Amino acid sequence: MDSDVTIYTLAGGDAAFEALVEHFYTYIEHDPVLRSMFPDDLEPGKRHQFLFLTQYFGGPTRYVDERGHPRLKMRHMPYDIDTEAQVHWLQHMLQAIDDAGIPEPARSLMREYFQKSSRFLINRPDPE
Ligand code: HEM
Repeated sequence: MDSDVTIYTLAGGDAAFEALVEHFYTYIEHDPVLRSMFPDDLEPGKRHQFLFLTQYFGGPTRYVDERGHPRLKMRHMPYDIDTEAQVHWLQHMLQAIDDAGIPEPARSLMREYFQKSSRFLINRPDPE
């Protein structure tokens, strides 16, 4: 495989990730479990998510330039992320990948990453 081939380019570059984040945030906006965790103004978070994901999947290193080291576990500590929250988040992201029309093999590689990383960010026990 050519060394310039990244999940970022296979997925469709900036345009694909812009679509992904738009779709994802539309689900967040209407989610009864997750909406209250997010601030009223969703735009800054949307942008950070876009910068992070494009960087993580091999695109330009814009997140680190603007936000520093991701430290995702630490950045999510203020939010109560139990299994219910994780499942909602993951379902929206997996649906958004399909809504954005991200082709294989990027689709499967991204699904696998989000399945693992979302479980890693669970930081609260489930209610009894
Ligand atoms: C497991 C369920 C998750 C929940 C409930 C959750 C929730 C949140 C919330 C409430 C914010 C703050 C948004 C804002 O300030 O506008 C945030 C930020 C963020 N999340 Fe998550 N998240 C989850 C999983 C993930 C995963 C799996 C990733 C990436 C693999 C991720 C990446 C990010 C990034 C990059 C930010 C922005 C960080 C920054 O401020 O620079 N999140 N998340």
